Amino acid sequence: KFLLNKTDELKGKNVLVTAGPTQEAIDPVRYITNKSTGKMGYALAYQAALMGAKVTLVTGPTNLEIPFGISEVIKVKSAQQMYEAVTSSFDEMDIVIKSAAVADYKPKNISDSKIKKSDSDLVLELDRNKDILFELGKLKTKQVLVGFAAETDDLIANAQKKLAKKNLDFIVANDLKQEGAGFAGDTNIVKLLFADGNIQELPIMTKNQLSKEIYDKIIYIMHNK
Ligand code: CTP
Ligand code: CA
Repeated sequence: KFLLNKTDELKGKNVLVTAGPTQEAIDPVRYITNKSTGKMGYALAYQAALMGAKVTLVTGPTNLEIPFGISEVIKVKSAQQMYEAVTSSFDEMDIVIKSAAVADYKPKNISDSKIKKSDSDLVLELDRNKDILFELGKLKTKQVLVGFAAETDDLIANAQKKLAKKNLDFIVANDLKQEGAGFAGDTNIVKLLFADGNIQELPIMTKNQLSKEIYDKIIYIMHNK
């Protein structure tokens, strides 16, 4: 088996991509999740394979087929499982891109039995999940670490805060209010915010094209480290 048009720009590099939503169980039949489809993360995983990398894809539940050329796939459901999968292999990685839409909160208690309805309202208590990317930012040594920011308001200011707080090399800032950006579609409109303060606005492009752009930036950063 082979990949068409495979190049060697990322040959010998270990790349970890996270993709999709997480699911946080409430009881055996219910969970909390979000609108992520995994398209951006799967495009990133495939592009890294095309460029010759050894790719590990850590994915929440999606309806997508695993792209060709991926070396290792770790399927997870909860944010905690994603945290464990990502931190256990972080040391070996050269590039880590966190495009997954990780749930910030999880139900405090997971009921073993299906919760029955009663005549009163139900209050669900939620606990904070670990911020995986923040934890990776603290562990970072040689890795190029890239995050995503999904925003409906104050895109640049919010993304800048995440970039700094999570110790990223750059962040891909997604304006969810723009048509053609964000979840589910095949295109994205983003701004790249770099640790040195540079901001680059990219035009609307497919998630495959954006993946290529992202690796071009990463390769530039690796050459200048
Ligand atoms: N992220 C993560 N672990 C979490 C939450 C987010 O690793 N528990 C990562 C995402 O994968 C993404 C980045 O952090 O790369 C930003 O996610 P986002 O939801 O935009 O930001 P948050 O820091 O969670 O802040 P908020 O949702 O309040 O805007
Ligand atoms: Ca969040």
